[in-house]
Amino acid sequence: MNMNIVAISGSLRKGSYNTALLRAAQKLAPELNIEILDISTLPIYNQDVEAANYPAEAKALREKIASADGVLIATPEFNRTPPGPLKNFLDWSSRPESEPLPWEGKPVGVLGASSSARGASFAQYDIRRIMSYFNAHPMGTAGILSRPCGRKIRRRPELDRSKINRGPQKVPSDIYGSRRERTKSIRTIKNAKSENAISG
Ligand SMILES: Cc1cc2nc3c(=O)[nH]c(=O)nc-3n(C[C@H](O)[C@H](O)[C@H](O)COP(=O)(O)O)c2cc1C
Repeated sequence: MNMNIVAISGSLRKGSYNTALLRAAQKLAPELNIEILDISTLPIYNQDVEAANYPAEAKALREKIASADGVLIATPEFNRTPPGPLKNFLDWSSRPESEPLPWEGKPVGVLGASSSARGASFAQYDIRRIMSYFNAHPMGTAGILSRPCGRKIRRRPELDRSKINRGPQKVPSDIYGSRRERTKSIRTIKNAKSENAISG
């Protein structure tokens, strides 16, 4: 099955470990079409700007999220929280209020790389919390990477299965699994409804 996954790195840094994680996911899950989106051109969220002229960049990103089969988010951690550009993107994506939220029911894999041993775990938790608020479907899998993995990314940007933990590979396959499971659940509900209709 061909699936379209969009991926967002919370880091704007050229040598970002988090962006490297998403590139690794592209390589480790070649059966998925993973497109890395650019959030760097978004203006800082301001309700006046939204009211005057909703930015075209934000609209394009919203549409990418809405039409994707799943989303991957790789977040750094700044002062125990996700970095500003990522939060800014999430805020834009939740607006305008009059439009349906593009995240509804969307499977979302959350990864994080950090230069510290904490591995962006607080930031990842925050992103999952926001995803739950958006009625998305955040995966349970944590792709936590700490300093030793950071060194691996730096030394071996071509990353392969043996050089990194299973995070980037496992999350896309979880997205695949979750969609399959959801389809199965929908089928079960439909079958139950038609059986009820027959017996009722
Ligand atoms: C302002 C600032 C705050 C940071 N705070 C944390 C932190 O709270 N926890 C952590 O694990 N790393 C922290 N770091 C280190 C980042 O994890 C590290 O810079 C990482 O490489 C950023 O991700 P990137 O490689 O994708 O750009 C901080 C870095 C900066 C610049």
